Amino acid sequence: MAIAIVVHEGATGVPALAVSGDAGFFADVGKGAVGIVVVKDIFSEVGDEEIVEAVVVVITNADALSPAGMKQAGFDGIAIHGAHGYMPDAFLWSGTNQRTDNYGGDVERRTTFVRELIRAIRSVVGADMPIMLRFSQWKQQDYQAKLAHTPQELEKILLPISEAGVDIFDASTRRFWLPEFSGSDLNLAGWAQKITGKPTMTVGSVGLNNDLYEALEKGSAEATDLSPLMERFNRGDFALVGVGRAMLSNPDFARKVRGGIKIAAFDRQYIHSLE
Ligand SMILES: Cc1cc2nc3c(=O)[nH]c(=O)nc-3n(C[C@H](O)[C@H](O)[C@H](O)COP(=O)(O)O)c2cc1C
Repeated sequence: MAIAIVVHEGATGVPALAVSGDAGFFADVGKGAVGIVVVKDIFSEVGDEEIVEAVVVVITNADALSPAGMKQAGFDGIAIHGAHGYMPDAFLWSGTNQRTDNYGGDVERRTTFVRELIRAIRSVVGADMPIMLRFSQWKQQDYQAKLAHTPQELEKILLPISEAGVDIFDASTRRFWLPEFSGSDLNLAGWAQKITGKPTMTVGSVGLNNDLYEALEKGSAEATDLSPLMERFNRGDFALVGVGRAMLSNPDFARKVRGGIKIAAFDRQYIHSLE
């Protein structure tokens, strides 16, 4: 199965956030206040009409790269990158969305852009093509940021987006075992599935003992067993599991896991070898 990803860098495309250094794209941008200020300006200056136009551009521009083009090219699904400070996320998060029109305001109104985007994509790809949305609490410019501080707030964000036509939620976290809200051990994917009733994907340090950014800084991550993940999976918290770094050090990850073979540790060199 091939799934095409629709990406707009949003806040992260601001030059102030285009960081350099050993970890390159993944370097620490936690203090990217300059970037946030620039993005705030962009978001407050662009009018309603231009935003509607932006939605249209996303879905029609560069034929082959549009969702319709992707469908024509034989992709089985569309994944929209709506996490980490990228454009849809920049509308969802109060830290970047300072608008006072239809696209800004309270937590529900901040979903307007994403709902319109999903509906527009649905209208060109038809009812039977799965649409997946990657979303996150954290941003590349602020790891501590949160879209939702409570399950109720998360519901206000995810339910309208779900109703707009998302089939699968990809809940991006850096450590899958961390509870998202107090009083429950559900992680973000667990909450998303519970709230929407749609299948969700968990991700973050699967098979490894530290997160991506820590591993890039330290240079490595040790392999861990998958039973804590499987416990959550088997009780029905989420339907899919995303694996990043462990796939780089174990291209035969699926075969190893199926065969009960221990997976290899991750080393930063695997990322550099992709360059
Ligand atoms: C080499 C590499 C490139 C990545 N590129 C992206 C990207 O373009 N967009 C994105 O949302 N996440 C990207 N990620 C993050 C992964 O999708 C995943 O969320 C993250 O690595 C956590 O999973 P892991 O702990 O299993 O590595 C990348 C990760 C790696 C290792």
